[in-house]
Amino acid sequence: MAEQNPSADLMRLVNGYQVSQAIHVVATLGIADLLTDGPRTSDDLAAVAEVHPRALYRVLRALAAVGVFREDEGGFFSLTPMGEGLRSDATGPVGPWAAFIGRPYYWQAWAHLRHSVRTGESAFPHVHGGADVWECRARHLEEGAIFDRAMTGLSRGVADALVSAYDFSRFGRVVDVAGGQGALLVAILAAHPGMHGVLFDQPHVVSGAGKVLRAAGVGDRCEVVGGSFFEAVPGGGDAYLLKAILHDWDDVGSTAILHACRRAMRPQAKLLVLERVIGLPNEGPDAKFSDLNMLVAPGGQERTGDEFATLFAAAGFRLGSVLPTGTRLSVIEGVPI
Ligand SMILES: C[S@@+](CC[C@H](N)C(=O)[O-])C[C@H]1O[C@@H](n2cnc3c(N)ncnc32)[C@H](O)[C@@H]1O
Repeated sequence: MAEQNPSADLMRLVNGYQVSQAIHVVATLGIADLLTDGPRTSDDLAAVAEVHPRALYRVLRALAAVGVFREDEGGFFSLTPMGEGLRSDATGPVGPWAAFIGRPYYWQAWAHLRHSVRTGESAFPHVHGGADVWECRARHLEEGAIFDRAMTGLSRGVADALVSAYDFSRFGRVVDVAGGQGALLVAILAAHPGMHGVLFDQPHVVSGAGKVLRAAGVGDRCEVVGGSFFEAVPGGGDAYLLKAILHDWDDVGSTAILHACRRAMRPQAKLLVLERVIGLPNEGPDAKFSDLNMLVAPGGQERTGDEFATLFAAAGFRLGSVLPTGTRLSVIEGVPI
């Protein structure tokens, strides 16, 4: 058994930012896709990626030391099972998320976590002249596109498991509220050929979604609507999905979004919130660090089951079942009252 060394363990956590930024760089360069057909030298990879050969070698050997790549004699690198997750054709691609989280504008907000801890406020507007994440991405469309790809990657990673865990077949028409570019809706509609969908998000986010839906073979069963969930969401759905939405907002913003859904819903319709649920003390770092990510950037929070119940009640819903899905997300049902 490996000897325990709490100080070394602590140092590994402290230096985690170095690993994160190194993975961000190789994800941005598309290195994993270049290794799909087998090992290549770092010099070869550097030539294709048009970067400094020795510097890329140093990044790759560091990541090989933590198990992302494998380094062999002659400067050859290949993908480990972990590194396979950076390929763009991975079932749950992590590359788009890595390509997003290291972006300087986002990284800068994390550099000001202390501001959030001091004030309780999001650090993002503090470092971006008062603009929130959504304003910033609408202004800088390249950053918006990188973020949208990250969301699509995360959704692709959990979509099949969500479709298996929850019985969507009882619904004829599903509205995905702020559904990004449609990755979850594609999986649900593909699994249920009789079902229709509505993809709703900000106009600049859904502007290219029709193409994605058609390519996935569900375009004829899916309407695409642009708008703001603070104004109105499309009516006529049997189920209203909110995946990774409420965690972006504080209770005031979340209640406003839920009110908009409630106004659009018939009494028999179901609200399906897909979110992390904060678990017991000393467990579940994914939800608890995602909570910090929400504090720093969009100014939201992850919630406990009781906090969802309180939020729902404030917007005219009763908490139904909370179904774990074997992914980081649970399906949290809201029943209109
Ligand atoms: C964390 S992403 C989740 C996207 C998608 N549900 C998923 O899980 O992949 C949050 C989404 O909220 C959308 N959004 C932000 N503000 C919005 C608004 N006022 N009205 C509609 N959508 C909005 C963003 O464009 C983004 O797609």
